Amino acid sequence: MLCTDKRDREGIMRIGRICGLALQHMLAHVQPGISTLELDEIGATFLRQHRAISAPKKAYNFPSWTCISVNDEVAHGVPSHKRIVQAGDVVNIDVSAVLDGYWADTGATVLVPPAKPAHVALCQATINALHSAIASARAGVPVYEIGRTIEAHAKRGGYRVFRELGGHGVGRHIHEDPNVYNYFTRQVSDRLVNGLVLTVEPFFNLGRGRLYTAKDKWTLKSVDRSISAQYEHTIIIQDDKPILCTQVEGGH
Ligand code: CO
Ligand code: CO
Repeated sequence: MLCTDKRDREGIMRIGRICGLALQHMLAHVQPGISTLELDEIGATFLRQHRAISAPKKAYNFPSWTCISVNDEVAHGVPSHKRIVQAGDVVNIDVSAVLDGYWADTGATVLVPPAKPAHVALCQATINALHSAIASARAGVPVYEIGRTIEAHAKRGGYRVFRELGGHGVGRHIHEDPNVYNYFTRQVSDRLVNGLVLTVEPFFNLGRGRLYTAKDKWTLKSVDRSISAQYEHTIIIQDDKPILCTQVEGGH
């Protein structure tokens, strides 16, 4: 959406903050022994307390409130009471929600100790790519500049991105135009404009960067069982630095 007046900006900032806080609250509960369904319930309770509704549930009839993807699961993991978090796991939580017709989306990956150095480096590289891409996103710059920045970071670290996964417009629905690819392509040569609301969400992968959809028809998994990290913010494009709608104190 194009967010140009105060009312729209406040609407996006409100749901952005709720998503950011819900994510932070869930991340704080990630520890060995908790199930991904329990984590989801923590997120659902928080969102409900703030009158917000799960975006994937509302838009796609997703079976739970948030997406939780563990280890070789890359995205859209379905929380389950059977999936118990273990020491050394790599857990991605993605929270998107709607309030009063405004939609926002955020995500982060957390490492359950003891974390492998390669996983720590993967997460740090993905966060660096996120913030570098956000810093490159200004009115007048082509949308593909975001992908170019993310891809450059991935190459430098020896990571792969997934062709199928990237950022997107957001605001009045969970997925809007434009597609914000995580690699350089002139398919989207449109320029960013003031007030455009979109997500930036690099996924970096330690393997070949190839996905498949699991039998549950939701969960996307890496074909080679490799680990990935994702960090995501909803931003509003400005003439200079964008506004980060989903960033909260102590978060990514
Ligand atoms: Co998301
Ligand atoms: Co997203």
